[in-house]
Amino acid sequence: MHVLVTGHTGFKGAWLILLLRALGHEVSGIALDPEPGALFTTAHLQADLKHDVRLDIRDAVALRESCERIAPDAIMHMAAQPLVRRSYAEPRLTVETNVMGTLNLLEAAGAVANLRALIVITTDKVYRNVNQVAGYREQDPLGGDDPYSASKAMADLLSTMWFRCYPGAPAAVARAGNVIGGGDVCQDRLLPDLMQAFAAQRVAAIRYPQAVRPWQHVLDCLSGYCVLLDALAGGRGMGSWNFGPDEGSFQTVATVADLAASLWGPGAAWAAESGTHPHEANLLALDAAAATRELGWQPRLSFEQAVTWTVDWYRAAAQGGDPRTLASDQVRAYLALS
Ligand SMILES: NC(=O)c1ccc[n+]([C@@H]2O[C@H](COP(=O)([O-])OP(=O)(O)OC[C@H]3O[C@@H](n4cnc5c(N)ncnc54)[C@H](O)[C@@H]3O)[C@@H](O)[C@H]2O)c1
Repeated sequence: MHVLVTGHTGFKGAWLILLLRALGHEVSGIALDPEPGALFTTAHLQADLKHDVRLDIRDAVALRESCERIAPDAIMHMAAQPLVRRSYAEPRLTVETNVMGTLNLLEAAGAVANLRALIVITTDKVYRNVNQVAGYREQDPLGGDDPYSASKAMADLLSTMWFRCYPGAPAAVARAGNVIGGGDVCQDRLLPDLMQAFAAQRVAAIRYPQAVRPWQHVLDCLSGYCVLLDALAGGRGMGSWNFGPDEGSFQTVATVADLAASLWGPGAAWAAESGTHPHEANLLALDAAAATRELGWQPRLSFEQAVTWTVDWYRAAAQGGDPRTLASDQVRAYLALS
């Protein structure tokens, strides 16, 4: 299939290009320019694309024209302002990008002839957080206590409404957890913050060490999107799906930081950051049983493997390893796992 990925210059987008190509798909992308040092650039992923379009998804006309011109078989919509802390500083940008940008994409997708599948990627943070220990299920109420989470919950509700009121290609919403993996350059995310500090032999300053997250390797998350893509193209899988890790991966930030430090080796250290920080959810877990039962998807990497693959990637890159080779090798290794 020819798959259009929005947000292809970002962290998940870069890995998704490699995974889709490895699975035999053609890929095009729509996004803003990559951040400095992004995996998209260092792994030379532009050469893997049929169309590489840079535009702002808040521009409805340009987005629609590009979608029609690219004429994909399927669309995976990931372009977003994805950072909680930035959303506090820039709530309008966050809502305009995540909500109106999604509306623009839904309208544009409707103008693509013969579209076979549409996936809107939201997040585990769309659920109304009641600090429950059990993972959230797809039917649980949505909410959002910060501008990012609320904007993604709005995009999620908007998409489900749209699929019902303006039926077109088989369509679904995909929600996934805290994703880790090599090559993430986003600020204020745990693994990039730890890896940068370890490489510079600084003590990493960590917020909310006791917060629990469903840690998941980026390839496990993206493999869920790809399974859903196949299901939709085959006329199945409409609805909303969680693609979270198993319960062994619901771990505190401190546990991740300790494991990463021991894997990195001597000199790696972290400490809790002092001061007050904007609210972030304390306990957050996903139940992905429906995706396993009905789509046949399940995570392939344990919590320890996910952190190990991530630290291995950053350490090898810090020692001069080629980002493209490192990422392609992990995609191959991932696909070889049963
Ligand atoms: N990384 C995670 O842990 C995580 C967890 C849950 C959900 N998500 C979701 O996955 C998606 C990808 O996240 P990521 O981690 O790769 O983020 P990222 O910041 O690395 O990438 C974001 C991408 O969106 C594009 N983008 C941002 N604003 C845009 C705009 N106005 N117009 C066009 N493109 C725009 C960027 O250019 C980039 O390609 C997002 O929808 C995010 O909400 C991420």
